[in-house]
Amino acid sequence: MTLAPEESLVKSRDRVKAYGEVFTPRHMVEQMIDVVAEDIESIDKTVLEPAAGDGNFLVAILERKLRTVGSTVEPELHAQESLFALASIYGVELLEDNHADAKAAMLETFLDFHRRLGTPCQANASLHRAAAFLIDANIVRGNTLTGLDPAGEELQLSWWTRSTETPGYVLREPFTLSSLREEGLFDFAVYESYAPCAIDKVYLEVRA
Ligand SMILES: C[S@@+](CC[C@H](N)C(=O)[O-])C[C@H]1O[C@@H](n2cnc3c(N)ncnc32)[C@H](O)[C@@H]1O
Repeated sequence: MTLAPEESLVKSRDRVKAYGEVFTPRHMVEQMIDVVAEDIESIDKTVLEPAAGDGNFLVAILERKLRTVGSTVEPELHAQESLFALASIYGVELLEDNHADAKAAMLETFLDFHRRLGTPCQANASLHRAAAFLIDANIVRGNTLTGLDPAGEELQLSWWTRSTETPGYVLREPFTLSSLREEGLFDFAVYESYAPCAIDKVYLEVRA
C-alpha cells in the first residue's frame, strides 16, 4: 500500500484496540467515493459518516460536491450552493480530538474553495459564520450505536430543506439520530421549529 508521506493510519495501539481507530488512506477514500461518484457529487445528496474519524471521507465528499458547485452553478450562486452542499453532509464521531479535527478540516476545505474564488470569507463574514454553524450542527460528537452524546443526551441533527417559495432559503427541522432506527423515521415533531431563512443567515437561528 502506498501512503502519502504525511499520512499515518494509526495513532496508537490502544486506540486501535479501544475504538477500532484505523484511518483509511486518502487514495483509498478517493477510490471508494469513485464507486458512488455520480450520486455523491450531486449538491443535495445526503451523506452520513457514522464513524467520521478525522473527517477524511467527509472532506473528500465535500470536495466533490464543491467541484460540482464550481463547474455547474453560476458564480453569483456559488456561496449559496456551497452552503447547501455543506448542509447535506453529516458525521458522528466518538472521540473529542477526532471530532474537532473533522470539523476543522471541513471548515478549512470550504473556506479554501472560496478563497480560491476570491469570495470574502473572513471570520465575521456571513459565509464563514453560516459554514461554521452548519458544520457544528451536522458533524456531532457521540456514539452512533447508542445515539447518545457524551452527556448521555440524545444526539440531535437537523434536516435542511430548500424552500420551494424563496430560492436560497432553507427550512431547519431537528431530529434525533436514534429516530432514524425507528419505523416512523425522523421525530421532527418533537422539537421546536425554525423559520425559513436565507442559508447564509442560518446562524441567526430565528424561531418560527
Ligand atoms: C476505523 S476509524 C475510521 C475513521 C474514518 N471513517 C476512516 O475510514 O478513516 C473509526 C473511527 O470511528 C470512531 N468510532 C468508533 N466507534 C464509534 C461509535 N460507536 N460511534 C461513533 N464513532 C465511533 C473512532 O473514534 C474512530 O475515529
